[in-house]
Amino acid sequence: MGGKQSFPRVTLSTDRVVLITGGNQGIGYHTAKWIAMMGAKVIIACRSEEKATEAIKRMNTEFLEEKAKGKESVSDLEELNVSFMRLDNSSLKSVMTLVDEFKATGLKLHTLICNAGIGVHKQEYTEDGNEYLFQVNYLSHFLLTAHLLPIMKTSGPDCRVILVSSIAHRVVSFRLDEIQGKQFTESTFDGLTFYNRSKLYQIMQMFSMNRRLADSNVTVTSLHPGVVETGLLTTFERGFTGAGLRILRGVGGSKTSFEGAWTTINAAINPKLEGVRDVYFSDSKPSTVSGQARNKRDQKKLWTYTLECLKDYLSDDIIKSLEGNHTETS
Ligand SMILES: NC(=O)c1ccc[n+]([C@@H]2O[C@H](COP(=O)([O-])OP(=O)(O)OC[C@H]3O[C@@H](n4cnc5c(N)ncnc54)[C@H](OP(=O)(O)O)[C@@H]3O)[C@@H](O)[C@H]2O)c1
Repeated sequence: MGGKQSFPRVTLSTDRVVLITGGNQGIGYHTAKWIAMMGAKVIIACRSEEKATEAIKRMNTEFLEEKAKGKESVSDLEELNVSFMRLDNSSLKSVMTLVDEFKATGLKLHTLICNAGIGVHKQEYTEDGNEYLFQVNYLSHFLLTAHLLPIMKTSGPDCRVILVSSIAHRVVSFRLDEIQGKQFTESTFDGLTFYNRSKLYQIMQMFSMNRRLADSNVTVTSLHPGVVETGLLTTFERGFTGAGLRILRGVGGSKTSFEGAWTTINAAINPKLEGVRDVYFSDSKPSTVSGQARNKRDQKKLWTYTLECLKDYLSDDIIKSLEGNHTETS
């Protein structure tokens, strides 16, 4: 990395608990590894136990290599404290199973990183009847957050929800009537637009949640990791976006998955960001979101629709905790 300082090297308490979705590969892998190397307890919530076990093994090997280099930036733990919990975001039941499993541990939760995601996808519906990108990238993360917030609220100071979004949110508008895309056919369905919109929903969620968390110890931020060479990026290689990608790569515009993790790691661990909310980071610096993402009327529509989609999974207590004393003004 040419000695470039990518994120502050801090020591995290071994009591600090971080849950990251999709920590087995790509951006999530490096995020989980580095946060664990700073000392925290990290849970990677993934679809495949086999992939997760393999990832944890690799993290430990790389940790020992860092230690052998005499790096002061990594903790003096013998072994990383990383564990696996099963999560498939295409199933709301799977989200609830993870919530129950997490609650059963009795652990606190300080940082929740909603990182898992899929890229351009064909028109497909989950077992819950939702458009795939809408559910995997946004809705399941919303459900997970709603259920884990009560734990975070009682976990002490400086708790953070981090939504790994994308600059792609900037190029789409919010269309409530198109969220499920049922009016499209296989050939008219545009997976790219649905991906971009799923990333827009996350930023809208950030603003809506922060209004409800304003006086609490929990903050919500979002970010764009950059154009990062991962499996997800390859789903953009076709058509118009593919041409744009080739140009970007040609001018050295893409990042490795380690570099792509820097903004997330910074958002999760930088002590200067305690209490910071409603910020969308790019290259670890606050950046501008689209006017559409800031549109409060559309944020409210999305919030109401989201609760409707999740009504079978949100008890009155959870809704009460989610809404707090908040009353929406126009
Ligand atoms: N790469 C980029 O250029 C870029 C740009 C902007 C934003 N982002 C965002 O960065 C985040 C991480 O993406 P990445 O680039 O690191 O991609 P990646 O390497 O493909 O990793 C995606 C992760 O999400 C997991 N995942 C996919 N579907 C899932 C599901 N149904 N349930 C649970 N986990 C699931 C994957 O698990 P499996 O291994 O089981 O598939 C994997 O761990 C995404 O939210 C993406 O939108 C990426």
